[in-house]
Amino acid sequence: MQEKEKNVPRPVDLTFLSSHLPMKHLRPRSCLLLSIVSIYLFWILFHNIPAFQNRDKSVNTPTVPADWSTGSLRHRLLAHFNSQNEIPRDIWQSWKSKQNLDVRFQENVRLWSSQSGFNYHFLDDDEIDEFVRTQFKLFPEIIQTWDTLPRKILKADYFRYLVLLAKGGYYSDIDTSPSVNIDAWLTDGPLATLMAENDLSKTDVGVIIGIEEERDLGTWRGLFNRRINLCQWTLASRPGHPLFVDVVAKIADLALYYYDPSTNVLTFPMGYKNLFDVQPAYNMSKDSANWYEGIIEWTGPASFTDSFFRTINQWYIENFSDHIQGSSNEVLCNNKHMCVLDPNKPLDLISKLENYPLGDNLLGIKLPTSPVGWENFTLLEYPLLYGDVALLPKHFFNSLHTTDFKKGYVHHAFTGTWKWTQDP
Ligand SMILES: *[C@@H]1O[C@H](CO)[C@@H](O)[C@H](O)[C@H]1NC(C)=O
Ligand SMILES: *[C@@H]1O[C@H](CO)[C@@H](O)[C@H](O)[C@H]1NC(C)=O
Ligand SMILES: *[C@@H]1O[C@H](CO)[C@@H](O)[C@H](O)[C@H]1NC(C)=O
Repeated sequence: MQEKEKNVPRPVDLTFLSSHLPMKHLRPRSCLLLSIVSIYLFWILFHNIPAFQNRDKSVNTPTVPADWSTGSLRHRLLAHFNSQNEIPRDIWQSWKSKQNLDVRFQENVRLWSSQSGFNYHFLDDDEIDEFVRTQFKLFPEIIQTWDTLPRKILKADYFRYLVLLAKGGYYSDIDTSPSVNIDAWLTDGPLATLMAENDLSKTDVGVIIGIEEERDLGTWRGLFNRRINLCQWTLASRPGHPLFVDVVAKIADLALYYYDPSTNVLTFPMGYKNLFDVQPAYNMSKDSANWYEGIIEWTGPASFTDSFFRTINQWYIENFSDHIQGSSNEVLCNNKHMCVLDPNKPLDLISKLENYPLGDNLLGIKLPTSPVGWENFTLLEYPLLYGDVALLPKHFFNSLHTTDFKKGYVHHAFTGTWKWTQDP
């Protein structure tokens, strides 16, 4: 599959990609169609959405800074849940109900719950509701966000971040199954090798994330929400990690200050530009033209990916402003012996890219506010570690990219997509 991709011309690539439509964040249209739809959509938006008609007296006047600057919710979450423990041996899954579970899901549950040495938790809709109200009772903003999120899929997304923030462990969607024992993630295979070579133990890894999708395509904007999208159907974290604080607080900011329940429209703050460089507004009503995008941007993979980059950049700026280069190409360490471990560096992945974006910062002109971008993770072949965050190449969690030579940890059947259309 890898080889085929390399040789096909770009228009064929598009067709190839759209055959992967079941992936919930892929844009289900070709670029051209998307542009036409977008132009139409923006025409509709500009003419029909009150937020655009009366921007000055907008119903959701921003009351928090558009750059998601630190707010008290973030500080309180960090202080309350912060822990330096290793990723707990808990597995979390959730579905609407425990009754009448699809036979494929029953098999997935059987496989996850039989992982030896792990505590398995399966929560239905009533139980996740109870979980959120109990675990976050000191955080009225979170409860209010929970009650405000207008669709079940938004809550399903939010729950995975909340459970990992409060309890930590491994979360995986019901349409996934483990391909290897979870223990092997940190004890066997490429991530374990990286840890062993650098004398790291399990306590040094706080988060494990996989790349969901990335393509070396000039046309990626017509197909993906971000040039690199991170996977949020399978996630692992210690409790209280800043990455999960960020995504949880950001979703709350959006729900409480930028979403208008009376129109069901989420208008992102000025300064937060979408791919078309305009202030995005999403009508979350069923059958609206952009509710699906709204989910991806509010709670879904795009939102999670942005939180990842935000957190990694903060970590990098705070801890590597005075960085000194390690002795080999592979290691970038600061004078506090903290390192970015990247076995991909000698492969010079950037030089393998065929599609450099226009006006890009590949000449090294990276913004001081975000020195770490997709360039640092593109075409990843081996796991890497930025501090305690391990990032895995796309074949680990996305079974579409798994081959005999590139074994994955998780199989994802992409059957969860049906829940989007039936979602009230
Ligand atoms: C949102 O979309 C629904 C369904 O298409 C439509 O009825 C409603 O008028 C839209 N709301 C706004 C504010 O545009
Ligand atoms: C910098 O590193 C220290 C030590 O690992 C960590 O506690 C701190 O949170 C880091 N800074 C940021 C912004 O992540
Ligand atoms: C990120 O990628 C850019 C572009 O290749 C490179 O100049 C920079 O050194 C990388 N940063 C890290 C931390 O690897």
